[in-house]
Amino acid sequence: SLQDYDHYMLKEIMEQPEAIKRTLKNRLAAGDVIIPEVEEFFKERQLTDIEKITIVGSGTSHHSGMIGKKILETMLDIPVEAAISSEFSCEHGHLNEKHLVIVMSQSGETADTISALKNAKKFGAPVIAITNYRKSTLGRKSDCLIYTHAGPELAVAATKAYTTQITALILLTIVLTKKLNGPGEDKIPVLLDALHSLADDVEKCLVMTQDAIDQFAQVTNDQGHLFLIGRGLDYVLALEGALKLQEVAYLHADAYAAGEMKHGTMALITPGVPVIALATQPHLRDKAINNIKEVKARDAYVVGVTTTGDDEVSAVVDEVLYIPEAHPFLMPILAAIPLQLLAYYAGTVRGYNVDRPRNLAKSLTVE
Ligand code: M6R
Repeated sequence: SLQDYDHYMLKEIMEQPEAIKRTLKNRLAAGDVIIPEVEEFFKERQLTDIEKITIVGSGTSHHSGMIGKKILETMLDIPVEAAISSEFSCEHGHLNEKHLVIVMSQSGETADTISALKNAKKFGAPVIAITNYRKSTLGRKSDCLIYTHAGPELAVAATKAYTTQITALILLTIVLTKKLNGPGEDKIPVLLDALHSLADDVEKCLVMTQDAIDQFAQVTNDQGHLFLIGRGLDYVLALEGALKLQEVAYLHADAYAAGEMKHGTMALITPGVPVIALATQPHLRDKAINNIKEVKARDAYVVGVTTTGDDEVSAVVDEVLYIPEAHPFLMPILAAIPLQLLAYYAGTVRGYNVDRPRNLAKSLTVE
């Protein structure tokens, strides 16, 4: 039921701390991660000779895949790619039994992703599915299913689906790093610690950003365009934020790799244009600040998203949104919260039906 909320989208945004706890439950132990389904999968197959990993998904599930790619590549010594389901299902590189395919889907029924799975299986590639429906087609046809436990997601916009998918991918990353002796093994203890406080950090994000985002959404009401910029994981997050704003607020929002703006898109920056600058990754922060200065020099109205107390970022933006500092891998989960809320408030202030955006369906069962 909707209980205290006007829309399912807001209810589902608010449910994220609980949803994430369910994704972690019985998997995240004191000093380890155990996913029984993955243990089974490894018992049945010799997977130590995996040469490549591809993570396939559509829309938001593709964005989770892109986050997963960047995280897996840091931890493993294997090339990892993230593919759009509808592209992978028509043209894909070499596929064989040494190529692990991970399919991401909230519904488990997205036709493009099912078609990608069929392709992978045709060439003997082992397939792990991460879905929110155990009995879905992807859940049944994959070799191993990691269930996200997000609970029903009824709004068309994916919110808790996204954060629980990334959480599940991080758990899988830890398991694969150990099983395949990845070079990131020594980074696991710190990551495990961070996972233990993830749900609380998400809760803090909700509290810290809700009012400011509501106000900023009112400001966007007379704007036709909005840009989101970021580097590394923040770039993927920008893509996800833009998708949410397009779908729910019908706002022409576009995401760019921050360093790429000067190669063309900067020509679109005119005084007052809203730019959301994501700067959550410590190792990329100085470069991100330079890129913020570049758009500020063209008089854009910049809202920075960074970790609490980062004065260097707050000094160069018009408005700052602080979120708690956590492990860099977890920042795409935390920073997604204000972006989801922005799409929600920008959609409602325009009077749109945020739960049922025009031209879209929750589950796309045609290719
Ligand atoms: O059920 P799936 O995760 O396979 O759905 C994939 C996309 O259709 C979905 O994520 C879509 O992009 C969302 N409506 C975005 O909010």
